[in-house]
Formats: sequence, C-alpha cells, structure tokens
Amino acid sequence: MSQTRLLALVGSLRAASINRRLAEAAAQTSPEGVEVAIYEGLADIPFYNEDLDVEGKVPAAALALREAVTASDGLLLVTPEYNGTLPAVLKNAIDWASRPYGVGALKTKPVAVVSASISPNAAKWSHDDAVKALGVAGADVLKEASLNFGTIGQRFGDAHPADDAEALTQLAATVRLLADAAVAVKANA
Ligand SMILES: Cc1cc2nc3c(=O)[nH]c(=O)nc-3n(C[C@H](O)[C@H](O)[C@H](O)COP(=O)(O)O)c2cc1C
Repeated sequence: MSQTRLLALVGSLRAASINRRLAEAAAQTSPEGVEVAIYEGLADIPFYNEDLDVEGKVPAAALALREAVTASDGLLLVTPEYNGTLPAVLKNAIDWASRPYGVGALKTKPVAVVSASISPNAAKWSHDDAVKALGVAGADVLKEASLNFGTIGQRFGDAHPADDAEALTQLAATVRLLADAAVAVKANA
C-alpha cells in the first residue's frame, strides 16, 4: 500500500513552540507506512481576502497550502489558545483551505485536533473553535482522536514531549486513528 501522508498545521509560530514540539513528537510515533510532515509556510500566507480568491490572483503561499492539504491524506491540527480561541494563523489557513466553496481542500479530509496551553484548561476553547470551523469547512473531524495538553509550561518547559512516555502514547494513538481514517478514505475513493 502507498504511503499515508499526514500534514501537521501548527498554530504557534515561535521557534521554541511546545505545540510544534508536540507535532514533532507525533511525527516520531508514525507507524510504518505513515509519515507526518509539519507544514512550514503558514506565516507567509496573507490574510484571506475574497478579492484575491479568484483565478490568477490567489497568493502563491495560499495556493501552496491548498495543494499541500489536497495532497495529504489527513490533517493533524496542533493549536495553542490565544485570547480564548485559536490563533489567527490557523484560522487563516482554515479559511484559505475551505475555499473554493463546496470543493475546498478541507472537504471530507480526516482531521485530528490537538490543543495545548499553559493553562489547566488545556486550550479547550481553542480546540472547540477549531473543531467548529473545520466542521463548517466540511472536514471530517475525528472526535475520538482529540487530545488536550494543559499546564504545558511546567510539563514540557524543559523536556521535549518526545521524552514524555505518556504524551508519546497519547500522540501515537491520535496518529494511528487519523492514519486509519485516512486509509479508509483512500480505500473508498
Ligand atoms: C496573545 C496570547 C494570548 C494567549 N491567550 C491564552 C488563552 O486564552 N488561554 C490560554 O490557555 N493560554 C493563552 N496564552 C498562553 C499560551 O497558552 C502559551 O503562550 C502557549 O505556550 C503557547 O504555545 P506554544 O508554546 O506552542 O507557543 C496566550 C498567549 C498569547 C501570546
């Protein structure tokens, strides 16, 4: 069977992002035949603008995101929480990937959402808003693959999540569920 390609979209752009490290740890858990690649171009995408979303005008960075999402078999969204919701960089990515209306790259795409923040609430508001936006965009959000990490400053401030056995086990289960859903979609295509 061909390789199953999962694409991770990380909502924090900072170099030392713990959310990014969670995505890196998730990638390390990929079973054979599955790869998780972290998308690197989110910061380059202009804010969504319907005037630009017409043939010949779509910014190259937005086109690249659409192509990467289309080429992937499933998405792993890893998000912190900013002011009670998901960071603008991720909402912008969802907006671009949701269009053209009805045939956007997110349509029927299996997605697992992982949230992480320094608060004990574990970015659950951000998680919920990501699930809502992805669902409206037509994605197939896998509730059973959800994860929430709280108090990440204490837990992962000095230790990479890849060195945390419990986090690795949880991330591996999420990657496995997402990969299984992606394989099922491919088999039915
Ligand atoms: C603008 C801003 C708003 C934030 N708002 C929240 C919030 O509403 N809830 C929360 O739990 N953490 C909030 N935080 C703290 C983030 O959880 C924290 O910065 C987290 O480490 C970000 O993840 P990262 O390590 O991947 O960058 C906020 C941080 C910033 C910079």
